Amino acid sequence: MELVFTEEQKMMQKMVRDFAEKEIAPIVEEMEETDRFPRELIKRMGELGLMGIPIPEAYGGSEMDYTSYIIAIHELSKVSATVGVILSVHTSVGTLPILSFGTEEQKKKYVPKLATGEYLGAFALTEPSSGSDASSMKTRAVRDGDEYILNGSKIFITNGGEADTYVAFARTNPDEKGSKGVTAFIIERDMPGFSVGKKEKKMGLNGSNTVEIVFEDCRVPVENRLGEEGQGFKIAMANLESGRIGIAAQSLGIAEAALNYATAYAKEREQFGKPIGQNQGLGFKLADMATDVEAAKLLTYRAADLKNHGTPCMQEVSMAKLFASKAAVKASIEAVQVYGGYGYTKDYPVERLFRDAKVCEIYEGTSEIQKIVISRNLLR
Ligand code: CAA
Repeated sequence: MELVFTEEQKMMQKMVRDFAEKEIAPIVEEMEETDRFPRELIKRMGELGLMGIPIPEAYGGSEMDYTSYIIAIHELSKVSATVGVILSVHTSVGTLPILSFGTEEQKKKYVPKLATGEYLGAFALTEPSSGSDASSMKTRAVRDGDEYILNGSKIFITNGGEADTYVAFARTNPDEKGSKGVTAFIIERDMPGFSVGKKEKKMGLNGSNTVEIVFEDCRVPVENRLGEEGQGFKIAMANLESGRIGIAAQSLGIAEAALNYATAYAKEREQFGKPIGQNQGLGFKLADMATDVEAAKLLTYRAADLKNHGTPCMQEVSMAKLFASKAAVKASIEAVQVYGGYGYTKDYPVERLFRDAKVCEIYEGTSEIQKIVISRNLLR
C-alpha cells in the first residue's frame, strides 16, 4: 500500500486548503454565532468541482478518486467540520446512491445538478423510533397507480432544510418485517405532501442544518423509486460505506486541527518562566494526540484506497470511523486542557472542536454499531 499522494491529489489538497483558509475561515465565527447555513459555499464548491469529486464527468462530476474526495473532506474539516459534513452527506449518501442504483433517466435528471452544486442532496433514513435499528422504520409507501403515497417522518436529516433532493426510505411491504420490505425513493422538496419540520438546536456543528422532514400523503411518481421494491435497505447500507469514510475524514480533520492548535499554544504560552509544552505532562499529551492522528489518517486513507480499487471494505471503513471519531473526541478534549481557562471560552477555537467532535461518534452509525459491523464480519 502506497500512501504517497499523486500530483493530482496534491493539487486537490492545496486547492481545498487555500479555499478553506480564504473563503471558509472568515465566516466560521459567524456560523457559530448565528447557526446560518452557508448556502453561498455550495455554489462556490460547485464551481471548484468539489460537489461531485468521485462522480464521472459524463454526469457533471470531477471524476476523481475516493482519496481525492477524502482529502477534500479532511482539509475542509480542519477549518470547519460543518462544511466537511455538508459535503460528505451531499456526496456519499445524497448523490452516490442515485449514481449506483438509479436508472439512466434518474442519473441524467439528478446527478449532474447534484455534482455541480446546483442541487444539494440529503439522505433520510433515521426516524424517531428507528435510529441504530434502521430497518425497523415505520414510514409507509403505498402504491397508487403510477405514484406512491408516503406517510411518516424522518429526523436528524443533515442538509435537510436546504436540500433539493433526498434519498429517502419507506416500507412498501408491511408484511415483510425488518430490512426486506424497505424501498428507496428520490424525493424532490417541492413534491406535494413533503415538508420540513423542526430544526434541531445542536451541541455543535452550527451552520449545518439538521431537521425533521415530514411526508403527509406525499405523492411520489413511480419513476422516482430508486432500485426495486424491497431493495431499499441494501441501498442504504451499501452507501453508508462511502458515507462512513467521509465521517472518518471529518473526524480526522477535527483531530488534526486540535493537535495543531494545542501544539502552537504549548510552544507560545509561558508559565513558570518557560513554554508550557516543556512540561512532560503536556508534551506527552501532544505525543498521544499526534500518534492518534497518524493512526486515524492511515486507517481512513487505507479505506479510501480500497474503495478506489473497488474492494469491499465495510469493515475497514467501520474501523476508520470508529478510531478517527474517538481520536477527534480525545484530541479536542486534550486541546481544551492545554489551553486551560482560555480553552473553555469561545474566544478560542478548541471548544468548538470539542463540541463538533462528539457527533462523529454518533451519526452514520454509532461507535457501537461500527463494532457490530466489525465483529459480525470477523465472526462470519
Ligand atoms: N451492503 C449491502 N447490503 C448490506 C450491507 C452492505 N454494506 N450491510 C447489510 N446488508 C444487507 C444484508 O446482507 C442483509 O440482506 P439479506 O437479508 O438479503 O442477507 C440486509 O442488508 C440486512 O442486514 P442485517 O441483517 O445485517 O441488518 P440489521 O437489521 O441487523 O442491521 C446494522 C445491521 C449494521 C445494525 C444496520 O442497521 C446499521 O448500520 N444501523 C445503523 C444505522 C445508521 O448508520 N444510520 C445512519 C443514518 S444516516 C446519517 O447519520 C447521515 C447523516 O445525516 C450524517
